[in-house]
Amino acid sequence: MYSLIRKLLFQINPERVHYLAMNSLQKACNIPALKYFIQQQFSIQHASLEKEVFGLHFKNSVGLGAGFDKNATYLQPLSCLGFGFVEIGTVTPKAQPGNEPPRLFRLPADKALINRMGFNNDGVVAIQKRLADWKNSADNTGTAPLIIGGNIGKNKHTENEDAWKDYTICFDTLFDVADYFVVNVSSPNTPGLRALQEKDALKKILNTLQDINYGKPKPKPLLLKIAPDLITEQLDDIITLAEEVKLSGMVISNTTIGRYELENTPTAVIEKIGAGGLSGAPLLKKSNEVLSYVATQTQYRLPIIGSGGIFTGNDAKEKLYAGAALIQVWSGFVYEGPRIARNICEALLPN
Ligand SMILES: Cc1cc2nc3c(=O)[nH]c(=O)nc-3n(C[C@H](O)[C@H](O)[C@H](O)COP(=O)(O)O)c2cc1C
Repeated sequence: MYSLIRKLLFQINPERVHYLAMNSLQKACNIPALKYFIQQQFSIQHASLEKEVFGLHFKNSVGLGAGFDKNATYLQPLSCLGFGFVEIGTVTPKAQPGNEPPRLFRLPADKALINRMGFNNDGVVAIQKRLADWKNSADNTGTAPLIIGGNIGKNKHTENEDAWKDYTICFDTLFDVADYFVVNVSSPNTPGLRALQEKDALKKILNTLQDINYGKPKPKPLLLKIAPDLITEQLDDIITLAEEVKLSGMVISNTTIGRYELENTPTAVIEKIGAGGLSGAPLLKKSNEVLSYVATQTQYRLPIIGSGGIFTGNDAKEKLYAGAALIQVWSGFVYEGPRIARNICEALLPN
């Protein structure tokens, strides 16, 4: 059924169809009978799916990755689709338009996407207000409400030496309305951002945030999202730092700047698309390797959210075996459709 709908949707510009589909779903969820129907169709509740990770209670371990609901606009419909958690953002202090379109491309023959969005978002103040409304809304009730991750970044025009200030503003402003935080230094579409993955730059950001965090009566879990393109020495530095600053976990991984595992897409098409982060099926193997390395080096003590190339229950199981405590989908949602969280949850149920 979804393969037919997908054929139609894939006729439309990818960025436009994203908003079209989510706005339609949101409208449908505003009608109580339709909302009930959508929940019945797409979400599943089972005690064995529930999980306790970094002190938070997740109704299931299937989340939606950052960048899908950048502005925290679609939490109600996403909750109806059965996700256990949604990571909003990346949020920056000031609103910014992101890169010039076109900036999102489908590579259907390889079940992949390339994007160079560039942190387009409404800015932290507007997003804080939306999250506060969501937290107080009737949709956010029940024994296991949707967990919200706040993925934070820096504005394009903030120099790297001042980046810690941007992360601080976002962390402070969202502190009361997000359940956990992710420091994003790994998107390839903000010039220079990935240089913040280097030891000293990262230390400054993470130390500053943890100082604020541990000054609060109830500190929030702080995680770091890394690129799959880091070399072993960089990963080792990050692992040492994660232990030093007492990170609660990591998100592994972001999109890759590599162009591997694209056997079915002509090189000319890939070259024409140009710069951007590759996600989807080609990323599964590489992101699992990085995940597995970090999990073994930390002796499975550091909870990891596995991201990259998850489409099916089997992909999710592979991530969990590689050492993930929770998983996130993004490209898989585009290719598999709105039943993805339910399908994965069903596959994770004990036989
Ligand atoms: C269009 C698009 C926008 C994204 N924006 C963000 C973002 O703002 N911040 C972030 O940390 N990750 C972002 N991501 C990365 C995803 O959260 C995810 O880590 C990555 O796509 C790998 O997962 P996937 O293979 O399931 O898509 C984005 C991905 C896509 C496709």
